[in-house]
Amino acid sequence: MNNKIITIDGPSASGKGTIAKKIADILGFNYLDSGVLYRILAYIYSSQPDFSHDINTENIQQCQQILIDKFNHSKILFENNNIFLENINITSFIRSETIGTLASILAANQNIRIQLLDWQRKYALAQGLEGLVTDGRDMGTVVFPNAKCKIFLIADVNKRAQRRYEQIISQTKNQDVKLNDILLNLKQRDERDINRSSSPLKPSNDAFILDNSNLTIEETVNIVLTYYKTV
Ligand code: CDP
Repeated sequence: MNNKIITIDGPSASGKGTIAKKIADILGFNYLDSGVLYRILAYIYSSQPDFSHDINTENIQQCQQILIDKFNHSKILFENNNIFLENINITSFIRSETIGTLASILAANQNIRIQLLDWQRKYALAQGLEGLVTDGRDMGTVVFPNAKCKIFLIADVNKRAQRRYEQIISQTKNQDVKLNDILLNLKQRDERDINRSSSPLKPSNDAFILDNSNLTIEETVNIVLTYYKTV
């Protein structure tokens, strides 16, 4: 078992990213947001003029190899919470709800997941002995099953919608966003993530399931750190 990898999985807006980043900072570990990889793929997809805008399983099958090749040949850089693709800062673009939805549709494709599996494991190896905190949907079940510390972070869907709403308002200053639309979108994404056949969202048998609906960020971080020290 590897005690230098901490996996934090869970549904959208459960707080995974915030908690994972803080834990990584405290322990001096690196951080990998695996959702960003699916968002980058969605960005690449949406910037191809000849790919269909009416995205469905069939047209993903048709373009999956081109998409994967483009991803594998792209220069991707993570720097101070910014994501650069071919030296272009795409951070705010890939954080949009539109890209999030497209990412979750692409994430159901098995070939895409297999390619990213490789990418993620190589990335972890490249971190050497420094340690890694990583968040996503299948980090503990599929990508790093030998991680010693696995967290499955959950929260009530209404709380998650409220958190995502506040995050969008503060990050994008977009005042047109509606709480109800966010709630609906989260429910659809949960449904897709849980019910897909390839690496569905579910806790690993050896994961610690933590409901942070009524916990502050600091309380959640402390519980995770205490757990990490005991496993
Ligand atoms: O921020 P949010 O939790 O909404 O999404 P994200 O973590 O950025 O991931 C975007 C989408 O990629 C999710 O809706 C998932 O469908 C998918 N994803 C996945 O399937 N597996 C992962 N390890 C990470 C993300």
